[in-house]
Amino acid sequence: GAAELGPYRHYMQKEIFEQPRAIADTLEGLEAIVPELFDGAHAAAWRSFEAIDSVLILACGTSYYSGCVARYWLESLAGIPTQVEVASEYRYRTSVPNPRTLVVTISQSGETADTLAALRHAQSLGHEHTLTICNVATSAMVRECKLAYITRAGVEIGVASTKAFTAQLAGLFLLTLALAQAKGRLSPEQEAEHLRAMRHLPVALQAVLALEPQVISWAEDFARMENALFLGRGLHYPIALEGALKLKEISYIHAEAYPAGELKHGPLALVTSSMPVVTVAPNDALLEKLKSNMQEVRARGGVLYVLADADTHIESAEGLHVIRMPEHYGALSPLLHVVPLQLLAYHTACARGTDVDKPRNLAKSVTVE
Ligand code: G6P
Repeated sequence: GAAELGPYRHYMQKEIFEQPRAIADTLEGLEAIVPELFDGAHAAAWRSFEAIDSVLILACGTSYYSGCVARYWLESLAGIPTQVEVASEYRYRTSVPNPRTLVVTISQSGETADTLAALRHAQSLGHEHTLTICNVATSAMVRECKLAYITRAGVEIGVASTKAFTAQLAGLFLLTLALAQAKGRLSPEQEAEHLRAMRHLPVALQAVLALEPQVISWAEDFARMENALFLGRGLHYPIALEGALKLKEISYIHAEAYPAGELKHGPLALVTSSMPVVTVAPNDALLEKLKSNMQEVRARGGVLYVLADADTHIESAEGLHVIRMPEHYGALSPLLHVVPLQLLAYHTACARGTDVDKPRNLAKSVTVE
């Protein structure tokens, strides 16, 4: 009811603003990685982590995109070959099981029919190392996986997932560190450094939430559009995908995401002044490449909306709108860059007058196929 919403207009907005708290709760008391991660089960977890040689992530919707981010972390920080697959595809295709794979399901509800069926399919193929990152401790997913990491985002009511997603990312980053440790790829100094960065996340998220007024002015433009394109590279390509999904789900604007390097292989043909192009531009190794992709868009009259890092030298100009992120956050940057995209979808939907918390045709938890 209205009392629970406090100063917010919708649950989705409230849940976006709860993210600093959701991450703080998820990480509460974290001193060292493995012993804290799996409470009573850490010996079993450690045995699994030492035994496995690859990871297979299965999920649906927004949870699938958190898995896509985790693939970059798992390969670059833990050196573990990782596949991510949409649960409804995996469950019906003939695949080649490797018994030394850690099967990771990701689910806010823990009850999504396709993700549960994909887990059971993996088990039927002989997979024994199973782990879930889940927001509901009493769910079927937690009961059926050997190991569970429970995110503490709290109850999520808005159909479009927000705080559960960033909490999943926090859990997946910890899982990456735990696996890196089991594989002898994490020094105590590196562990301390990563944990310090994680503990600073609630403060960093708060600073990003303060960008809301700037995002509202972007949303006024977007509300008049019927199409939008989202670009990202590397770790932030899944963030572009998630930004496009959020916009579709609640504002009903057709949106798609592309890895920026693929722009010239198709979507550039669609770029006009009536298709805004959102670019997620952290100051990482791919920044220079991203800048040349942005030039390709501007040269064709496209209008760019860029989420730039604090230290990137990209300035607003004709056809180029820049929101500068407060700080550069390295490997954890996806948790911060997704927030303005959530707010963009939210405010665009509000400007269009849609039912933000209950978008047409969608359900919070899809428990039947
Ligand atoms: C539905 C929801 C999405 C969610 C997806 C997966 O489509 O609307 O927000 O990401 O299901 O749900 P899960 O509970 O498994 O994360």
